[in-house]
Amino acid sequence: MEAIWTQLEAWEFNTNDEDHRLTHKFSPNRPVPQEHIHELGVLTWKLDVDEWEKNTLLETIKMDRGYKYSVVTVCHKEMEDFEEKVKGFFQELLHSQEEIRLILDGNGYWDIRDYDGKWIRFHITKGDMIVLPPGMFHRFTLDENHYIKATQPLLALLLFTDVSYRTQHRAESESAASGLYVLIVWILVQERIRGQSAE
Ligand SMILES: [Fe+2]
Repeated sequence: MEAIWTQLEAWEFNTNDEDHRLTHKFSPNRPVPQEHIHELGVLTWKLDVDEWEKNTLLETIKMDRGYKYSVVTVCHKEMEDFEEKVKGFFQELLHSQEEIRLILDGNGYWDIRDYDGKWIRFHITKGDMIVLPPGMFHRFTLDENHYIKATQPLLALLLFTDVSYRTQHRAESESAASGLYVLIVWILVQERIRGQSAE
């Protein structure tokens, strides 16, 4: 099924100490072309969600990709531990399943890692349906309106593995370190053998 970009705006995320619910744009802004977001594997559709349960396109997407749904609302009124939850959503993760959200109301930001590890942020609004591919580092936050209502489609057969960016990079550096250790041991052994044959 062809992805349809509508008015989704993306830009390079400016990492600083400000609240993550602010835009975090550079000055001047560094926009990211939609083609690049597609290249990274993100799919989007714009749907009419006023009667979302009757939307035939949504039904087609649901059947096509094997989803089932739950509806999640993130706002002060619906959550006792609102601030903690929002902080939790902003933890970077990847998982073995694609991530899908259909925004029924409100707004938010998704941040995704580019090939070089830089964050790209895009704004999602009512009617946006977003699919992030499996294995993509991402995080989510509300915007300054502090409210979003979304369907949380899940694959019927769910095998969910969350991995944080730091964990993966630590595993990579540990693996590199252990490779280096093996190389040093091999060189020392070779030196020893050479030394013994010379005696
Ligand atoms: Fe996720």
